[in-house]
Amino acid sequence: MKAMVRNRYGPPDVIEAADLDKPEPSEDEVLVRVHAASVNPADWYGLTGWLYLFRFPTGLFKPKSNRLGTDFAGVVEAVGSSITHVSPGDEVYGGRNGALAEYVVVKNAVVPKPAGLTFEEAAAMPTAAITALQGLRDKGGLEPGHRVLINGASGGVGTFAVQIARALGAHVTAVCSTGKVDLIRSLGADEVIDYTSEDFTRRGQRYDLVFDVAGSRSWRALKRVLEPHGKLLIVGGPKGGRILGPIRGIFGKRIGAMFSRRSATFFIARFNRPDLETLAGMVDAGQVKPVVDKTWPLVETADAFRYLGEGHARGKAVVTV
Ligand SMILES: NC(=O)c1ccc[n+]([C@@H]2O[C@H](COP(=O)([O-])OP(=O)(O)OC[C@H]3O[C@@H](n4cnc5c(N)ncnc54)[C@H](OP(=O)(O)O)[C@@H]3O)[C@@H](O)[C@H]2O)c1
Repeated sequence: MKAMVRNRYGPPDVIEAADLDKPEPSEDEVLVRVHAASVNPADWYGLTGWLYLFRFPTGLFKPKSNRLGTDFAGVVEAVGSSITHVSPGDEVYGGRNGALAEYVVVKNAVVPKPAGLTFEEAAAMPTAAITALQGLRDKGGLEPGHRVLINGASGGVGTFAVQIARALGAHVTAVCSTGKVDLIRSLGADEVIDYTSEDFTRRGQRYDLVFDVAGSRSWRALKRVLEPHGKLLIVGGPKGGRILGPIRGIFGKRIGAMFSRRSATFFIARFNRPDLETLAGMVDAGQVKPVVDKTWPLVETADAFRYLGEGHARGKAVVTV
């Protein structure tokens, strides 16, 4: 099978196509023929080895695994003897390292894909949508009637966060750049703030939850928009330097919050089947629709990474296989 690989850390130029053996599913695995895969900032960090700290688990001097990609959608080709929740021929979506390939074997994070979505749309979902769902519902404790501000609403995570926050019954204020205001309004945001012309921390509005994908503002500024018992949920941040990267901004906010009634929490989303199923249900119910920005063929995966690395995606960057 064809797979996109890299044998050293580096810019997208180090990505190459390789011919690998088609994997065999073991007893508790599902073999999926991949139709589409999407790229996420985590994949970009894995490709480039940007953050030296992140290299401890993935290989200090060279990557332990040469495979790339996580999110996929495709068709089940074979299942191990203990798999009962999907069968050969089912259209599925999920997440597993090595998704930028013609086949992937996956243990847990694979569920039936929403019938109304294309493979490209379904592949746009796993990481970004599960981050939005777990962040808003579980870590953020978002409830009907709460006021939430989503900073960085126009990328992969943000476009799902706007829709999921609406579905959870919150009043949604979204922050993005000028060219994306119409898109974000169309996703159901109650208010949209263009960060290039207005400072959302100086409008006199307060929120129960700030869901911070962009990480573009300091704790001092964010504190102004949080209700006295409000929460800051730190989801992402600028790439920053190579030693601490986004960690510096995260710590700054956590330390600032230690001296305040308002809280600042960082979390990392985890794949699980129930949440992938919940998201599929939200799509079926018409509450969530993935926003696919651009698509590239598998052999042009490097261009998808270059585009993502610029940090101004409009929804998700997807690769068709
Ligand atoms: N904690 C977790 O589990 C988890 C999971 C997934 C992702 N993340 C992190 O979340 C972040 C975003 O991921 P993503 O997949 O959404 O990335 P993405 O698709 O590249 O989107 C990034 C978005 O940030 C916006 N942005 C850039 N500067 C901004 C600013 N100053 N103010 C407001 N928005 C700004 C950009 O919109 P404009 O073009 O409008 O500027 C862009 O749409 C990354 O840091 C990623 O590592 C964390």
